[in-house]
Amino acid sequence: MTIAPSTQATAAPAGDRTSTARHFLMCRPEFFAVSYSINPWMDPAKGADAGTAVRQWEGLRQAYESLGHTVRLIDPIEGLPDMVFAANGALVVEGKVYGARFAHAERAAEGPAYLRWFAERGYETLEPSFTNEGEGDYLTLDEMILAGTGFRTDVAAHMEAQEFLGRPVVTLRLVDPRFYHLDTALFPLDGRNVAYYPDAFSAGSQRVLRRLFPDAVIAAAADAEVLGLNAVSDGRNVVVNAEATSLALELKRRGFEVLPVDLSELRKAGGGPKCCTLEIR
Ligand code: ARG
Repeated sequence: MTIAPSTQATAAPAGDRTSTARHFLMCRPEFFAVSYSINPWMDPAKGADAGTAVRQWEGLRQAYESLGHTVRLIDPIEGLPDMVFAANGALVVEGKVYGARFAHAERAAEGPAYLRWFAERGYETLEPSFTNEGEGDYLTLDEMILAGTGFRTDVAAHMEAQEFLGRPVVTLRLVDPRFYHLDTALFPLDGRNVAYYPDAFSAGSQRVLRRLFPDAVIAAAADAEVLGLNAVSDGRNVVVNAEATSLALELKRRGFEVLPVDLSELRKAGGGPKCCTLEIR
């Protein structure tokens, strides 16, 4: 008979959680600005500072590298201030790249720029026929892809992604304009479970989430309002906006390691850690 080694008396010791090494694509915010408004966070009258954004973004990149993840870079393009939000550039699953087609003209040129980056490196790519904003609205779990609609991504694109990637896509309807992308209201904790803010979703989608994820981490309004759900987990370590303090406590209680980051300058455009991060699966 073997006796399990003793662990600390926490709800779920961090040792129970395993991380997997990730490949991320990021874009340094050299040309970052808030010069137009396409979501309620953006106020062109207040603007934003590219120098501060670059410093904060470097902190995020270092957090990933300190966890052993690989960060690759795409060159920023002048005149595309939101290009820093790499999550919107594509959806990559098992080496297949489903391209983005942006809802707003201000960001339209980003779709082809990201798709070209992948095509030049030999990835199988699909130019989309329907409006979709990449990993902003598609979050990949082991057995399914959760897909947001309501503000940016068209439901027809959910079907297109499912056909191309061969993984079931579950449509979720977003209803609060502050949480205009799925990744502002929900993030995968690992391949099987998620954290989310219920009020960002329609009543029917809330029921779907409860059915799929009875053990989810439920975030409060205060955490959602600092874009705390725009987080990145590797299965063990969660990189999350520093202001989301009660979410951080709950994650620790569940046995996750929390790495807080300050991305307050990027939040002026409505973005957080996950928005800046496209996973190359
Ligand atoms: N200003 C950008 C927009 O409204 C922010 C995008 C944030 N990205 C994200 N994955 N939520 O499109």
